[in-house]
Amino acid sequence: MLLGSPMRLTSLLLAGLVALAPAIPASAQATAYADQPPILLGAAWYPEQWPESRWEPDLVLMEAAHIHLVRVGEFAWSTMEPSEGHYEFGWLERAIALAAKYHICVVLGTPTAAPPAWLTTRYPETLRIDQDGHRDEHGNRAQFSFANQRYRQFAHDIAEQMAIHFGHNPNVVGWQLDNEYGNDSFDPEAKAQFHAWLQKKYGTIANLNQHWATAYWSQTYDTFDEIPARNNNENPALLLEWKRFVSDTWKSYSTNQIDAIRPHADKRQFITTNTMGWFDGFDEYTLHSVLDIAAWDDYIATDTYDADANGATHDLTRGYKRKNFWVIETEPAFVNWRPTNTPLQKGQVRDMAWQAIGHGADAVEYWQWRSAPNGQEEYHGVLAGIDGKPVPVYDEVKQVGDEFEKTGAALSGTEPRASVAIVQSYDSRWAIDFQRHSAKFEPVAELIAFYRPLRDQAQAVDVISPDAPLDQYKLVVAPALNVLPQGIADRLIAYVKQGGHLVLGPRSGMKDEYNALNPQRQPGPLVDLLGANVSQFYALDEAVPVSGELGHGTANIWAETIAPSSSDTQVLLKYGPSNGWLDNQPAAVTRTVGKGSITYIGAWLDQPLLNSLTASFLKDAGVQLILPGVPDGVEVCQRTGSGKSVLILINHTTSSQHIALPAAMTDLLSAGSSKINSVDLPKYGVAVLQN
Ligand code: GAL
Repeated sequence: MLLGSPMRLTSLLLAGLVALAPAIPASAQATAYADQPPILLGAAWYPEQWPESRWEPDLVLMEAAHIHLVRVGEFAWSTMEPSEGHYEFGWLERAIALAAKYHICVVLGTPTAAPPAWLTTRYPETLRIDQDGHRDEHGNRAQFSFANQRYRQFAHDIAEQMAIHFGHNPNVVGWQLDNEYGNDSFDPEAKAQFHAWLQKKYGTIANLNQHWATAYWSQTYDTFDEIPARNNNENPALLLEWKRFVSDTWKSYSTNQIDAIRPHADKRQFITTNTMGWFDGFDEYTLHSVLDIAAWDDYIATDTYDADANGATHDLTRGYKRKNFWVIETEPAFVNWRPTNTPLQKGQVRDMAWQAIGHGADAVEYWQWRSAPNGQEEYHGVLAGIDGKPVPVYDEVKQVGDEFEKTGAALSGTEPRASVAIVQSYDSRWAIDFQRHSAKFEPVAELIAFYRPLRDQAQAVDVISPDAPLDQYKLVVAPALNVLPQGIADRLIAYVKQGGHLVLGPRSGMKDEYNALNPQRQPGPLVDLLGANVSQFYALDEAVPVSGELGHGTANIWAETIAPSSSDTQVLLKYGPSNGWLDNQPAAVTRTVGKGSITYIGAWLDQPLLNSLTASFLKDAGVQLILPGVPDGVEVCQRTGSGKSVLILINHTTSSQHIALPAAMTDLLSAGSSKINSVDLPKYGVAVLQN
């Protein structure tokens, strides 16, 4: 039961009165733009930052760039509820109606990432507390406690009021909850909830003590309330459970708002939130079990745009719901939060937009439309400057918008399809991060080392959760499936026995559900199927030679020696001379199981050697390339469905590239409709082709 207060009751009564008033004049409704194009170009728009007289010129410019979507409202709490219980939605109604006039639909953000000053001043207990006991002050954003019941009541009320007003607005296509969930909180309420969560999971404290092996360092607990809440320097079982608790808490934080919105909103309006790629503060699969679609904020955090790594993040996001997703924020050439905010090269904004579509995005939205008059992000990339005039990147985005319009019909109802999957496990990433053993063992970097050749050699890869269905895949690769509970292992065993090809990377199968060591050693419950186990792991500070039938190269960062116990377990790679422990020991083994196979690679291999191995795995699994003979640096994406198949070719290189097509195809981006047999792509060039 969420907390109420006399103030909140008054606010509900007032809100009821507002709800009875007509939400939007009929004349404005008539202009609503409900039939948005299948592939949407959009921008984050903050009408609350501007006098209304400035809205229309902005919307005119947006429409001219083929922008048909704006996300509005996600930080506008102080404008929507200027004082407790007094809601002001007239401005938002007018902004939405005006957007409709320019054929621009709206995603509404609930503003709960930016509580107003009156709220945090009157109810300071809503502010989060960090692990060291410091309470946040008002200012900046995301300073609330995600577990605080009073905050949730306020969040529920503002979301409900918004839904009452806009839940049937034909121009509102969906909802974004909050903004980039991230900060957990260690306030007393969060801690009490953690204790209750543990009690529910373990039943008795004796059971918890046993799974956590709390005799170690005298950690034995008599009651659940004695258990500390921490996110580092603690028992690995506790740390893993804290992350799972945080995941469940963000989920319930979301359902609090979903329950407020859903009863008042049309079914066609989706509910999502904007996620942050590989951010591992919580488990996105848990969160997405209550969301309708996945959406992410695609920013390049490094000096160069690494297309493979970015593509992997699209595939990660597509895996949250195992369907198409949105890029709900991306950069108009540069951001403001890196040490040196160099821009993307001219042409790469378009390259990135098409990569998103190629990997299954149905919308690409730029953050932000126009520089705010003031605020923390004055230097961030935009499409229109403070003067309301286009900045140089506007034209590139306009070209993208034009191309989305031209290709929308062909792409509608299509999606990427892969016969190769990479398993991404938050439990495993967390468990490795808690005890890296080798500081350089970064689980996402290791996953991407596998992703690069697989993507290159198969041209379609799904990134999936450990409990996703596996039937559609010929090859499943789990780069470092460190935490491997029996239930997941049983599904992998069934997959292999049914003819699937499973490849495990180093550190797999070491831990159970409780982050405790599996008694069989690695790969734990898969030891019998593999006919081998890991005899010892070693952190490396220099490269170790590795060789075998599939090639030779080096192991870096990590090396495990593998001991086969079955005569039909074949050694694929062995270590060469190094520290004595590794010399001549098996580094990778494989075993055929009926028509399927299980392979274990115990080392972080250099990229060329890993490339040869993945090529062989794909061949054995019978995975076909979508388009053979494509030059390096040209990415091939295919979207299929509704009886259509569309190829998207992107030249990520700085030289022009020639690509021969297997059959004559129509170039959807060119003016003519005649078919072509090959494509010449200039630097950062894109082709969208249909049979
Ligand atoms: C995102 C955030 C936006 C904006 C953007 C700037 O993380 O959701 O509100 O701050 O970064 O790059």
